[in-house]
Amino acid sequence: MKYFLDSAKMDEIRYAYETFGIDGVTTNPRHIMLSGKPFLKAVTDIAEWIKAEGLTGVDVFPVSVEINPHIDDADEMIAEAEKISAVSPNFVIKIPATEAGVTAARKLEEKGIRTNVTLIFSAAQAILPAKNGSKFVSPFIGWKEANGEDCREYIRNIVEIYKNYGFYGNTEIICAAIRTPKQIADCAVAGADIVTTGLDVYKDSMKHAYTTQGIGTFCNAWDNTAAE
Ligand code: E4P
Repeated sequence: MKYFLDSAKMDEIRYAYETFGIDGVTTNPRHIMLSGKPFLKAVTDIAEWIKAEGLTGVDVFPVSVEINPHIDDADEMIAEAEKISAVSPNFVIKIPATEAGVTAARKLEEKGIRTNVTLIFSAAQAILPAKNGSKFVSPFIGWKEANGEDCREYIRNIVEIYKNYGFYGNTEIICAAIRTPKQIADCAVAGADIVTTGLDVYKDSMKHAYTTQGIGTFCNAWDNTAAE
């Protein structure tokens, strides 16, 4: 399973790449806002870092960049997506899972512009983007679970549907808005292709009280071992 970083902050992207070897980046308008930079500056900085690292290519290190969320017309979405994708060959255009969004995504894929259909909250919403050849779909996990839903079946259903119809591996499932290490494991068990989350969740996923306790136990043993 691939790990993407959900952030538009360069210090976090660099850290996550160097430390965890992340496989890509996802952004959204909230992450761009949190970067403190104007939209174009934030995405251009990511594009320049990709180039400097020698990671050029959408299959090497994809970066999802979302269109202006105010746009609700398919042709306008396409025009906006074309402008954004011209910034970097690594950019995948994030488009909401609406009727206009999936229409625009289908036409963009026909033009060779890769898309990530986002804000997916039901298995049914994940089908059409896959039929239309979108590169990614982003079912949101954390938002649903914060409202009391257990998402394990939801992810399993999307994986099963994709396997039933040959979409699995062609349209990759990015489990998004991951909030806990347990959710990462749930997505892996279900067969999701990718998870995307913030740095803190990846850091937390490597922590366990028994690991800390075990290091203490072994330090104690080491310190009390007979001298050579
Ligand atoms: C995923 O691609 C989204 O950017 C992200 O996970 C959205 O949710 P969040 O910003 O609430 O984590």
